[in-house]
Amino acid sequence: MSKLFTPYKLKDITLRNRIAVPPMCQYSAIDGVPNDWHLAHYTGLARGGVGLLIVEASGVSPEGRITPGCLGIWNEKQAEEHKKIVKAIKKAGAVPGLQIAHAGRKASANLPWEGDDHIKDDDPRAWDTISPSALAFGGGNLPKVPREMTHEDIGRIKKDFVSATKRAIDAGYEWLELHFAHGYLAQSFFSVHANHRTDAYGGDAKGRGKFLLETLEAVRKVWPENLPLAIRFGVIEFDGRDEETIKEAIALSNQFREGGLDFLNVSLGFSTPDAHIPWGPAFLAPIAKRVRKETGLPVASSWGFGKPDLAENAVKNEELDIVMIGRAHLANPHWTYEAAQELGISKPSLVLPAPYAHWLARYKL
Ligand SMILES: Cc1cc2nc3c(=O)[nH]c(=O)nc-3n(C[C@H](O)[C@H](O)[C@H](O)COP(=O)(O)O)c2cc1C
Repeated sequence: MSKLFTPYKLKDITLRNRIAVPPMCQYSAIDGVPNDWHLAHYTGLARGGVGLLIVEASGVSPEGRITPGCLGIWNEKQAEEHKKIVKAIKKAGAVPGLQIAHAGRKASANLPWEGDDHIKDDDPRAWDTISPSALAFGGGNLPKVPREMTHEDIGRIKKDFVSATKRAIDAGYEWLELHFAHGYLAQSFFSVHANHRTDAYGGDAKGRGKFLLETLEAVRKVWPENLPLAIRFGVIEFDGRDEETIKEAIALSNQFREGGLDFLNVSLGFSTPDAHIPWGPAFLAPIAKRVRKETGLPVASSWGFGKPDLAENAVKNEELDIVMIGRAHLANPHWTYEAAQELGISKPSLVLPAPYAHWLARYKL
């Protein structure tokens, strides 16, 4: 009996199964506006049968994008185009989620297939970056030194997250994920590598968590109570400081829960180029399980769950409540169908819409 294919309910939202597409930037927008590429891409993924589809990191402000091709949700035009994506995802039976983000010191970068490095300062496409401290990420390809944020900047960015949330509500999204991971702005506040501030927003774990907690609380005030509010959080860096970082992340996640958080997407810090990440199938599962147990929050994770048995076991072993399947969905937007077949679900084609399911059920290839 598959657990992956059981429905999952959180607040007023029910997912038809526990498979989700995590946010994956398409780097295909102009001025942050969703276009035909995004509509076709997300429609195809939703038709593939997933329960939850989280649309890629969408900048809360122009300078919050990673690259000039990243999506945004800081103006009405963008929100209008997001509406079309939301409608298509819902029509295909999946729940539409959105990740909102600020890239901090990793912003102003070239597209991954054009270098993935900081855009040179004399290139007119480059923009100034901000971060808790004036420290570059480094590592060869991200050398740009950000400007240290003032208290005014901190207040502005929190407001940008709130405005983006309001636009996400207008667009019809039913699941919101705040991007507090992967070395972007919020993760940089939490990180000892990126945050050397001596004011209330730095120092000990409480200070380094302040921006994240305040942003969550501000968003919670406007995001509907009956809809899930999630955070993607890098709880570990694999930099040798791991137990301390996990303990701090769990303590902060408990504060998030008290501040109204419903769900945690457990991920990596990516705040230092000097990490030694033990990549492997489902390698974050034990860490996610620990976070789930010690916070009482339902969790998801990704990174190498793209084989049906791995995804099934993660739910069965109570490591994850939802399994995020990223790159395997780029390879096969009908991954859920593949999983249903492999896991022996009766009438597996029914995870797909009728115009596909009818023929797949009727004829064997
Ligand atoms: C093309 C691509 C774009 C991504 N963009 C985002 C993003 O917008 N936000 C985010 O939190 N993670 C992003 N990620 C990370 C994925 O959400 C996911 O964690 C990662 O692909 C690992 O899961 P997988 O092994 O199932 O692919 C991206 C990954 C890929 C491959």
